Amino acid sequence: KKAVLAYSGGLDTSVILKWLQDTYQCEVVTFTADLGQGEELEPAREKAKKFGVNEIYIDDLREEFVRDFVFPMFRANTVYEGEYLLGTSIARPLIAKRLIEIANETKADAISHGATGKGNDQVRFELGAYALNPNIKIIAPWREWDLLSREKLLAYAEKHGIPVEMKHKQGGSPYSMDANLLHISYEGRHLEDPAAEAEEDMWRWTVSPEKAPDAAEYLDLEFKQGDIVALNGKSMKAHEILAELNRLGGKHGVGRLDLVENRYVGMKSRGCYETPGGTIILKAHRAIESITLDREVAHLKDDLMPRYASLIYNGYWWSPERVALQTLIDHTQATVNGWVRVKLYKGNVIVVGRDSKTDSLFDSTIATFEDDKGAYDQKDAGGFIKLNALRMRIAANLHSRKK
Ligand code: ARG
Ligand code: SIN
Repeated sequence: KKAVLAYSGGLDTSVILKWLQDTYQCEVVTFTADLGQGEELEPAREKAKKFGVNEIYIDDLREEFVRDFVFPMFRANTVYEGEYLLGTSIARPLIAKRLIEIANETKADAISHGATGKGNDQVRFELGAYALNPNIKIIAPWREWDLLSREKLLAYAEKHGIPVEMKHKQGGSPYSMDANLLHISYEGRHLEDPAAEAEEDMWRWTVSPEKAPDAAEYLDLEFKQGDIVALNGKSMKAHEILAELNRLGGKHGVGRLDLVENRYVGMKSRGCYETPGGTIILKAHRAIESITLDREVAHLKDDLMPRYASLIYNGYWWSPERVALQTLIDHTQATVNGWVRVKLYKGNVIVVGRDSKTDSLFDSTIATFEDDKGAYDQKDAGGFIKLNALRMRIAANLHSRKK
């Protein structure tokens, strides 16, 4: 018996590691992913070794994460419940995929994770795992054990010699956090009162808009088939671009969000998020689409987007309907080429220009307020309006006859 554990090296997953060994008498393989959370990962190797783990995976998934998950999601201008840019949701399917790949490589029959029984993450990990390996066994310690309070968890750690310095997870922050190249999230503690403003020192990636520079900063973003491929004239890989946009957005106070959202399991939950780079990408992507997409294609995308967002939020990345939607979304992006100029200023991303040499549908000879020299015949609009009004005129006649 063998289980692959999604292991961060923090207190919770270290307790899980020990608990798995004791409760299931199974060999544990640890898997730690670098998704750009900005933490040293080598300590996770040392800790796993101390627990007698022989197979230790520490994978740099940053490029794959942004190229194959984050960017495809932004092609749809995806936001959940109007606000949330899905920073945690979009990382889970990749972790599920790696857990299953490692289970296959190491001939493990089970996977395990540190998500609680109350949240979305358990659903995302497990739906993904089942979709990729229908026979995998899943061990979710939070749904099985009785270490349901912080004190019990600490007592267990103490008793089993789990090092004390691990108590201070995430560098001393009291919040439940999840970070990767797309965002950092905060939940729990003071945030459990949705009426109370988050403390200023909670935020880690962004300055407050009040403290942001007084001078705006301009960015030139080049798009190819819906993805940003260059920043200020410099070609970069997807994950490098996102990292740089995080830095620039953070400096200008861009991308803070304080939200009460509906979890898939049915409860409302209050979370705070910092998504500086993603906030810039979303604005810029809509701007390049505004000149390169046909109106009905753009509106169809907007109709489908909330469903696509729910699929990702609820854990259905590896479902056939998500793949079908992605095919449609990706197809629309063939013409989404060109550049967008934005300026960052005190928490705002302001689009100031956009153009596409190859794919612009914007026709200034038609749109002009000046003499269009016959490009558009204004007389046509009379019949267009009259026929569109026909059913309303019929109804109005009927109403006046009834009076
Ligand atoms: N509420 C967000 C979501 O469902 C963030 C979850 C954060 N997860 C965590 N393990 N801290 O996507
Ligand atoms: C958790 O419950 O493990 C984190 C929050 C969530 O998954 O929604």
